[in-house]
Amino acid sequence: MTHVTAQTGAEDSLAPVLPSSPAQEERAARFIEVRGLEKTFAGDGAPVQALRGLDLVVPEGSFLGVMGQSGSGKSTFLAVLGGLSHPSAGEVRVDGIDLYGLPGERLADFRREYLGFVFQSFNLVPYLTALENVLLPLAVKRMPAAEKRARAIEVLGRVGLADRSRHLPGKLSGGEQERVAIARALVNDPPLLLADEPTGALDSETTTEVMELFAELHREGNTIVMVTHNLEIRRYFDRTVVLKDGRLEGGPPAGEAG
Ligand SMILES: Nc1ncnc2c1ncn2[C@@H]1O[C@H](COP(=O)(O)OP(=O)(O)OP(=O)(O)O)[C@@H](O)[C@H]1O
Ligand SMILES: [Mg+2]
Repeated sequence: MTHVTAQTGAEDSLAPVLPSSPAQEERAARFIEVRGLEKTFAGDGAPVQALRGLDLVVPEGSFLGVMGQSGSGKSTFLAVLGGLSHPSAGEVRVDGIDLYGLPGERLADFRREYLGFVFQSFNLVPYLTALENVLLPLAVKRMPAAEKRARAIEVLGRVGLADRSRHLPGKLSGGEQERVAIARALVNDPPLLLADEPTGALDSETTTEVMELFAELHREGNTIVMVTHNLEIRRYFDRTVVLKDGRLEGGPPAGEAG
């Protein structure tokens, strides 16, 4: 951490350094709060109950792993957590904000301000370069274009792709595409990072590379929720929960697993 001192001559503009209040600590301890969460998909046939009553509290700065078999509701859970899909019942709060109590356009604001989402398939736009893909979330920001570009280049450097910024996704390896997707999720500096199987399409070496990047983000204090099938990467999480048929089974902390 760098501390600004009075020697900078900027004392006029310095905000008073307040000790963290109990209210702030309480908010950090319940950064994500999920209560009675249910999601039912009404299709042509019988409705599918993807989530059947989840309760979960995740403190700020956690690296939470969500595991479970295919079809157990992991992606559905992550989408609801990120304000991308309305639950059928229950409540999701992030940093004290009741997501689904917000009017639609405010929910969009929430996603823009709070969320970095790495999708199960990279979801890169194929005809845009790596740099242009990373710039996408900044499109709606009121910020000088040169500053946006500098920020996008900075995060591409962060994921080790400074020299690939002009490449189209099709000219990048799977691991590189994944890292572009991570850079895109990071470009807004979001308080919450959600990742759905970010290593699903990667070999074990590239998986380690990508997980080391997430581990670094975790060490820096980011709150991360990651869905995965991969037992090997469980050791990176500081807590793992398991979904089974739309319910949480819980699980031992990663340290006890191996
Ligand atoms: N849009 C949808 N409409 C109808 N049913 C859906 C929809 N999305 C998901 N489902 C169903 O909800 C259940 C949970 O799906 P979900 O995608 O959350 O599983 P998952 O745990 O992420 O699986 P995977 O590991 O294969 O990605 C599945 O039975 C799925 O078929
Ligand atoms: Mg899924």
